Amino acid sequence: MCGIIGVIGKVSPSIQVLEGLKRLEYRGYDSAGIASLENGFIDLRRRPGKLSALEALMAEKPLADGDKAAIGHTRWATHGEPNETNAHPHLSKHCAVVHNGIIENYKDLRTKLIAEGMDFKSDTDTETVPMLISKHMDEGKDTLGAVIQTMKEVEGAFALGILFNADKDHIIAARRGSPLVIGLANGATYMGSDALALAPFTNKVIYLENDDVAVLSATGAEVYTLDGQKAERPVVTVDVSDALTGKNGYRHFMLKEIHEQPTVVGETLTAYLNASRTEIAFGEAADVDLSKATQVTIVACGTSYYAGCVAKYWLEELAGIPVNVDIASEFRYRQPPLVDGGVCVFISQSGETADTLAALEYCKAAGQTIMSIVNVAASSIARESHAVLQTKAGPEIGVASTKAFTTQLMVLALLAIETGRQKGKLSTDKVKDLIHALAEVPARMTTILDMDGNIQRMAEDIIHARSALYLGRGNLFPIALEGALKLKEISYIHAEGYAAGEMKHGPIALIEEGVPVVTISPWNSLFEKTVSNMQEVAARKGSVYLITDKKGAAAAGDVNGGTLVLPDA
Ligand code: M6R
Repeated sequence: MCGIIGVIGKVSPSIQVLEGLKRLEYRGYDSAGIASLENGFIDLRRRPGKLSALEALMAEKPLADGDKAAIGHTRWATHGEPNETNAHPHLSKHCAVVHNGIIENYKDLRTKLIAEGMDFKSDTDTETVPMLISKHMDEGKDTLGAVIQTMKEVEGAFALGILFNADKDHIIAARRGSPLVIGLANGATYMGSDALALAPFTNKVIYLENDDVAVLSATGAEVYTLDGQKAERPVVTVDVSDALTGKNGYRHFMLKEIHEQPTVVGETLTAYLNASRTEIAFGEAADVDLSKATQVTIVACGTSYYAGCVAKYWLEELAGIPVNVDIASEFRYRQPPLVDGGVCVFISQSGETADTLAALEYCKAAGQTIMSIVNVAASSIARESHAVLQTKAGPEIGVASTKAFTTQLMVLALLAIETGRQKGKLSTDKVKDLIHALAEVPARMTTILDMDGNIQRMAEDIIHARSALYLGRGNLFPIALEGALKLKEISYIHAEGYAAGEMKHGPIALIEEGVPVVTISPWNSLFEKTVSNMQEVAARKGSVYLITDKKGAAAAGDVNGGTLVLPDA
């Protein structure tokens, strides 16, 4: 993931681009760059490493910014190592380009363009885009025509920002698959990977649709489709106040978002209850009834996929309906057969994940009813859905999902309960009891967050490990998978999540002295089985860290790594 931003019409565009990049650094931080226009000449500043390196360079050698137009980029390398040459923007004879996403057919395009005499400087897939645009301009197309033609030739999911040396009055934004918004302000127009990046400048945005090409000038933006026709796109006012997008005194966004969970999980619950908080009220989304579906398919990526895996357990248990859960990047290429009358549920924080969107399009084309659970209400996945249940997590800036995951679980729990009621599996009283239990979740989360001293002590042990395992049974198996994902992503420690019962089928071989095994197991009918897994680990001198409740802690006795006792359910 990378972040892109652009502005036209401001006196010091490169300074504004730098400001916007600070809000996009969460999308990539291995290099950054800015291009701005000065008397028809594109000037460039790029640096490997964090944005602060580019900021230092800009302080030492500011961009002249004469022509009031600039674009910028913060990179997370996919094609080509993170060095200055591969940093964006990338240049060609007529333009500079910033890009988020992947140009899948770049090798073929690059080979052809090199054969035609083009001189590539970087190892990136991106550079094919400015090269193609320049080629089409040399063939006589204007800037818009050259971008449209290029869009027709490139494959993949991407968002582009383009600055032209011969046109100081316009910059161009284009997207397919990856998100891109246009920001409208007085005397200036912006583009950005998300509305948060534009928050210091405007809250009036246009969400571009797939294959939109927008021509931005100081006074606004005109949007075109790939057949060259003008398209109308609504202007949306977004809430991107600092209270939502600042760190609010926390050391980093992830920590802030972890601590926001009691509030946003509570707000998500409230959003889908009636006034007396006794019934589930999905509003317009209630038209999609899972209880009548011939088949229920849940599709998502990463953390959102794990939320879907938890939902499978809940829907089976509370509603008695079978559920298929799939990873979007597998599902979309496998093209699985779907039964008529099925409902497909897509889970996504951003609502823009390319594989999830492609899977959705496949299901929609197959006549399935589409429900989505998304955090960003104006996202592509939400727009393509017949029914949307929005999580109320607020902007997620820390790339590692925390509050997005727990708000997804809240919506999915409500969906399972409501489906159970519609199926006649849950009585009105049982539904009330379950809602009551969900209403206690925010307070329990606060209690757990207050245990951060104990959690920190465990983390201080685990930090020395090279590898760790997470174990769970039932609906806590996907929670184990999510725990392992978080450890990998945040600490770069190799970690795997397993269904505890699988230990004896292979993973036990990984246990040696000091290997941390985080076991998530409350007191229930399977607890004794998990205790025997813990004993197997301890016998091989692995370090067990048990996350349980009071009864579980009492039954487990001494646990060599430590026990975290959560509030009773
Ligand atoms: O925006 P999405 O929920 O569709 O994103 C899918 C995954 O990329 C995402 O859940 C990712 O696994 C987490 N941010 C990791 O913490």
